[in-house]
Amino acid sequence: MTDVAVDKQIELAAEKLNNGELIGLPTETVYGLAADARNPAAVRRIYELKNRPITHPLITHVAHGADIFAWVDETRVSDATHVMIEQLTAAFWPGPLTLVLPKAEQIDATVTGGQDTIALRCPAHPLAQAVLRELSVLQNHPAVGVAAPSANHFGRVSPTRAAHVRDEFGDAVWVLDGDVSDVGIESTIVDLTRGMPVILRLGHITADDVHRVTGVMPQVHQSHQKVDPNAPRASGTLLAHYAPRTPLVWASEVVEAAGVVLCHSPDFDVAGFAAHIRLPDDAVGYAQGLYHALRELDGHAAPRIVVEDLPEHPAWDAVRDRLKRAVVGSNEEQS
Ligand code: TXA
Ligand code: MG
Repeated sequence: MTDVAVDKQIELAAEKLNNGELIGLPTETVYGLAADARNPAAVRRIYELKNRPITHPLITHVAHGADIFAWVDETRVSDATHVMIEQLTAAFWPGPLTLVLPKAEQIDATVTGGQDTIALRCPAHPLAQAVLRELSVLQNHPAVGVAAPSANHFGRVSPTRAAHVRDEFGDAVWVLDGDVSDVGIESTIVDLTRGMPVILRLGHITADDVHRVTGVMPQVHQSHQKVDPNAPRASGTLLAHYAPRTPLVWASEVVEAAGVVLCHSPDFDVAGFAAHIRLPDDAVGYAQGLYHALRELDGHAAPRIVVEDLPEHPAWDAVRDRLKRAVVGSNEEQS
């Protein structure tokens, strides 16, 4: 596309958001199903379209770190948390980090799933940034917000390409094409409302990264900790999530090669499988290709998708977390 064509697309995206429409918005993590966060009717349509329970809060995307306090109740932020916000946003924004903070009173709770906390992220994708800036011009507001969960039906695999969003929602949603998402898995979510940082969802930014920047080692909400499904703090913390339709099984748990296989080791033997995808043998490259691979393998309508077990190294924790949930979710679907 020419620069002029891209500019037109950015304008169109911002106009649609300003008119209360939903769009598919590229970010560096995954594509979002986006609406103007200050338009409760538009935000409600996100829940409807995704079949998402209205109690599952959305992430609000902002253009700059400085916009945080348009959304957050500063009176409920301690000095120590204030320092952590500054450290984390300086180090990781724009980027794949979401912060959960006390919600400002004037913000309608539709976007926060009725909670009095709000999840905020400043996305690094240049098109997401451009759309936020353009919306800010259209609304003549310095601190606009775009609510955007991943652009997939609830519980399903997140989209990392414009085509994935079209597969999910067809003509119901116009998509801004921002190419392949760099990171490939959803942002790390850090809850800063509990006195100490708690990682609610693992991602590209690790507990060690948070430790390095804040001096505090965050607690990590473990994926095997079943949370009450009626009152989830984070839908990414539901055990069954990110699921393809085909049952997923770990290679270490199958006896014979059958179905299709997702592997990463150069020497993994794919003989006997109807199809295979070999992702890069490093956690970052693997994460980038993971959701596309799951969608492709799902498309074979095979009896099962076998997944080569992942290295035990902590660098693989975020993708391991996604796959563990996908294994549970894809097998629940069958029963
Ligand atoms: O990378 C991402 O975060 C992508 C892109 C589009 O930015 N978005 C995304 O949104 O993954 P979603 O809705 O699929 O996941 C948002 C997560 C959910 O697990 C939700 O429960 C959690 O954020 N969340 C939102 N607000 C929260 C809050 N106030 N307290 C705890 N968790 C919250
Ligand atoms: Mg999601």
